[in-house]
Amino acid sequence: MTDKLEFVDLKTQYAALKDRIAQRMQAVLDHGQYIMGPEVQELEHKLTAFCGAKHCITVASGTEALLIALMALDLKPGDEVITTPFTFAATVETIVLLGGKPVFVDIEPDTCNIDWRGIEAKVTRRTRAIMPVSLYGQVCDMDEINAIAARHGGIAVIEDAAQSFGATYKGRKSGNLSTFGCTSFFPSKPLGCYGDGGAIFTSDDVLAQACREIRVHGQSVRYTHTRVGVGGRMDTLQCAIVLAKFERFGWELERRAALGARYQRLLVGSELVAVRADRNSVWAQFTLMVDQRDRVQAALKAAGIPTAVHYPRPLHLQPAYTQSAGTEGYPVSERLAQRVLSMPMSADLSLSDQDRVVAALAEALAALPA
Ligand SMILES: Cc1ncc(COP(=O)(O)O)c(C=O)c1O
Repeated sequence: MTDKLEFVDLKTQYAALKDRIAQRMQAVLDHGQYIMGPEVQELEHKLTAFCGAKHCITVASGTEALLIALMALDLKPGDEVITTPFTFAATVETIVLLGGKPVFVDIEPDTCNIDWRGIEAKVTRRTRAIMPVSLYGQVCDMDEINAIAARHGGIAVIEDAAQSFGATYKGRKSGNLSTFGCTSFFPSKPLGCYGDGGAIFTSDDVLAQACREIRVHGQSVRYTHTRVGVGGRMDTLQCAIVLAKFERFGWELERRAALGARYQRLLVGSELVAVRADRNSVWAQFTLMVDQRDRVQAALKAAGIPTAVHYPRPLHLQPAYTQSAGTEGYPVSERLAQRVLSMPMSADLSLSDQDRVVAALAEALAALPA
């Protein structure tokens, strides 16, 4: 437990893992292979075994994972990628960077995930991929999405699993549910490093090889550049840190599940993001919907409770993307962007701090003018 209530408590986690992290980092300093050292492959093997996909390619960030996956599909200017407007910018940024066109489908009002029922109507002959985002740590309706992709000649499906590593869907792991799963090891993510990092999962041998080459400037062998690539490697030190954290990840997933269930129990009667019965959430965010959010957030801040908004403006309304998005509105996303509010959540949140959050929230909601 820390003195100050943290939105994501990485300090307690570090205190628990300090020795292992120091050992792992020291090993890298001793062997000196800072780029593509042995920890890179070790981590890829461990994550593959955990997630169930045939290949894991670690990369420089979650953003890079999405970019490299799209490059491996050979996304061409004008190609369309169907996705949600209710996500972090990186999802759509990567499509636009390659000259692709994001095609938005609105979200479900209870889960905040893309509504698969709206996807098929948006498929055209230019559709190259569908990119569902497993928002807040819960996977989308992947069976339905994969079926739509299969019905239309095998469109690729890229799961943006930046927030959902460790989550399960019908008994299978997030990251191993479609053509690609792309995750992030940003420090506050369920499995984080101490800087930037990410990984691509796929069971397709050809696409995996393409990702491996793109990650190192398109090299098939050293100084033979067979395709255009990027400098997209995850460095050895960051892999070593994830390896140390991974030893505790099983325990952390259990804690996250217990804390999420406890929040749900204690906040019964509030409007919470729903979790479907055939999957779980790793609670990258524990999010609820409130009216008069600014007032609630200010009252919580005054009570010493940090909160966050994921996300205050859907991407079709962001200046950088209005042009690619066109004029269509996405009313559910627009409404929820005004109402979502995320509470402190991490494996090391203490029960007493969680009680403090719940009490302060009840007080803030009770004090709202009618
Ligand atoms: C949904 C989503 N996609 C992509 C990313 C990008 O990951 P990174 O920050 O590792 O580049 C994030 C990270 O915040 C995310 O939440």
